[in-house]
Amino acid sequence: MRVSKTDRRVQVILGMQWGDEGKGKIVDLLGESSDVVARFQGGANAGHTVRFEGRKYILHLLPTGILRPNIQCVIGNGVVIDPDSLMEEIRTLGDSGIETAGRLWISHRAHIILPQHKILDQISEDIRTGQKIGTTGRGIGPAYADKAGRLGIRMGDLLAPEGILAERVSQQVENRNNQMSSLYGRSGPGSREVLLLLERLREKVRDCITDTRIFLNRAIGDQKRILLEGAQGAMLDIDFGTYPFVTSSNTTVGGVFTGLGIAPREIGHVLGVLKAYTTRVGNGPFPTELTGGLGDSLRTKGAEFGSTTGRPRRCGWFDSVVARYAREINGVDSVALTKLDVLDEMKELRICTAYKCREEVLEDFPGNCDLLDAALPVYETLPGWQKPTGDIREFGKLPAEARKYIERIERLVGAPVEIVSVGSSREQNIFR
Ligand code: GDP
Ligand code: IMO
Ligand code: MG
Repeated sequence: MRVSKTDRRVQVILGMQWGDEGKGKIVDLLGESSDVVARFQGGANAGHTVRFEGRKYILHLLPTGILRPNIQCVIGNGVVIDPDSLMEEIRTLGDSGIETAGRLWISHRAHIILPQHKILDQISEDIRTGQKIGTTGRGIGPAYADKAGRLGIRMGDLLAPEGILAERVSQQVENRNNQMSSLYGRSGPGSREVLLLLERLREKVRDCITDTRIFLNRAIGDQKRILLEGAQGAMLDIDFGTYPFVTSSNTTVGGVFTGLGIAPREIGHVLGVLKAYTTRVGNGPFPTELTGGLGDSLRTKGAEFGSTTGRPRRCGWFDSVVARYAREINGVDSVALTKLDVLDEMKELRICTAYKCREEVLEDFPGNCDLLDAALPVYETLPGWQKPTGDIREFGKLPAEARKYIERIERLVGAPVEIVSVGSSREQNIFR
């Protein structure tokens, strides 16, 4: 299959499964030839891992491009910002000699996560009847709810004239504390404490707050090379994911436009990231999940533990129904297939090609979670390669069975695999 020759100046990189596909590694890799990296949605629920020179970095809020000193980084209006996480991330990077000053730009329209949002995140999990979502506890849902409810506090408010921020904070915090204490007998820090937190945040990032829409559109006009870094994955999208077991933002390509203020025609290429098998952290349907020894062995070999919460990730076979759906929603031009090396010792591999739901065979991903609960995967079995791939750098040198596995995925997904990742470090890649 031919890799499409689209204009790569503005490129979106996003997850096509349930997150943790290895987006951080791929953004870092392509960052080498980029000028700007921007995050457009999500918050510190993300955990993007990059390994180089024997060190491991996990980025939650800052764009992965921050690790390369020549890259300008943008946190767009679609992101929700946790003050403690942001300050902590800037500090720890500074301790490792990575400076953010003068190259980190935060949208004045981005909403702030208050301590109250994190407590409400916990409460909504506690009081939920039936299965819990299993959120990251970072306050994401309540912060986006306040944004939609027109109650939020935004980064630009930090720069409001004296007194205005204090008033907004006191209204918001007192409302929330009253609501929590009368309904659930819990309360968060008072408005004075929250204001102090926001003032500390202002001290730290005052010079970064700007209209990032203008910054990005100028960069586009100046022909800069720009990467737009998605967080989470298509199946966690608030509209297209396995609702209600999703996050609270649009993780699919539409999030780029509303989360950054750039136009669809500016996007030259959409690179989807797919793991060579499937994982999910948190609850909700997962048709190809392996609950026995095979699942455990994938988890051990792939070190599948959440980068943000440390929770064990649920593991299963590659699901082409999911990947095809994600390709379609996002208009994926090409795919980066990660963690192929994790499958090196498998005798046999399975790929899900359809679901059997009651008496029906479904090749299109259903919109209804109840239907998914009853879905049985229809599998195709392929032979494994049982040889190490971590040192291979050319597609032609991969074992024939590995090439067949990749080619079968390409055909089922309907997009070419352009990059194969065979290990967690910067060098372990095969470009086609
Ligand atoms: P993200 O959220 O999509 O950026 O992914 P995470 O960083 O949460 O999880 C991916 C994990 O897999 C990280 O620990 C990476 O270092 C690791 N990783 C990425 N690509 C590969 C690969 O090709 N092989 C192996 N073995 N590990 C990889
Ligand atoms: P990255 O960017 C994997 C999951 C949570 C939970 C659901 C809702 O590293 O791929 P939330 O805290 O967002 O309200 O939780 O979404 N989740 C992720 N799973 N990777 C992520 O990010 C995730 N961000 C959120 O586990 O199931
Ligand atoms: Mg992650």
